[in-house]
Amino acid sequence: MSEGINDHTRYIVDLRRHMWMDGIEVELRRLIWQIAVVGKYISAKIHESNRKLAGFKNVYGEDQLALDRISDDILKNMLKNSGFVREYASEELKEIAPIGQGQEKYIVTADPLDGSSLVDTNLAIGTIIGIHKNSVFDCGRNSMVAALYITYGPLITMIYSAGKGVHEFVLDREGEYVLSEENIRLNEKGAIFSPGGLRRDWTDSHKRYIDRLESDGYKLRYSGGFVPDINQVIIKRGGIFSYPALKKSPQGKLRLLFELQPMAFIMEQAGGRATNGKEDILSLNVTSVDQRSPIYIGSSAEVTMAEKFLSQ
Ligand code: AHG
Ligand code: MN
Ligand code: MN
Repeated sequence: MSEGINDHTRYIVDLRRHMWMDGIEVELRRLIWQIAVVGKYISAKIHESNRKLAGFKNVYGEDQLALDRISDDILKNMLKNSGFVREYASEELKEIAPIGQGQEKYIVTADPLDGSSLVDTNLAIGTIIGIHKNSVFDCGRNSMVAALYITYGPLITMIYSAGKGVHEFVLDREGEYVLSEENIRLNEKGAIFSPGGLRRDWTDSHKRYIDRLESDGYKLRYSGGFVPDINQVIIKRGGIFSYPALKKSPQGKLRLLFELQPMAFIMEQAGGRATNGKEDILSLNVTSVDQRSPIYIGSSAEVTMAEKFLSQ
């Protein structure tokens, strides 16, 4: 037993202390902390609106959709008062909202509630956040300084990166985010695949890629929630998530600014990769807030293999 540590005293590192020890600058630290706190409020709303009480039949239709907007409001209001955010871009808003005085350091992008169609099934859902220093109308590599996502599952977990590795925190029963895994690094190759879109809408080259993964013995793991699907690739240290170009929608489904850039930032920080098939997701120029892109994201062997199949 090492000195000073026994069964009764654990050395617990909370989120604020971790970010401080990591040398992240003070405003960014506070911003990430505030967003993590918002996760608690969003989680409370999810519980409130999805309590399966007999007699409240309609909570799953209209109310479930409203949960997206409620989450967005909570986040926007919290960030408005933060003093660190000049603009807020959200999947729920048509345009970027100026929410500060103009001289604040950061722009925040949000998918406040990802996987909203899964709420009534009690599967995991999430919140995805990107933090930019410069205009979002650039490529992620030039504008982003941090990203995080919160998974609302049996546990509430938060994974963040401010460009110094990828770290996971778990919300404990006292309401504290405590460190669970530090400097998460993916293996070169994984064992799971999450293929988005319908097979009948896939291109032939994408079909061949997925067939290859299947014949190589990759296990199918697709929940329909981007956050838990990406989270399992990270926690299992590898694998691939794809939402490809579809015959009728060549840009796929997922949104570059709100969903893909933050996950690509985290994945690269964990030693993985993210591409649209030809270019890195973080090299793509954002020209509109609702821009979409195909994506192949995960450990590097599978992403590189996707590039090869798509170029044939
Ligand atoms: P959102 O709930 O924010 O609209 O996102 C839904 C997304 C994402 O979570 C998931 O990866 C994808 O939609 C699933 O799409 P399919 O239902 O086509 O599989
Ligand atoms: Mn989403
Ligand atoms: Mn959403």
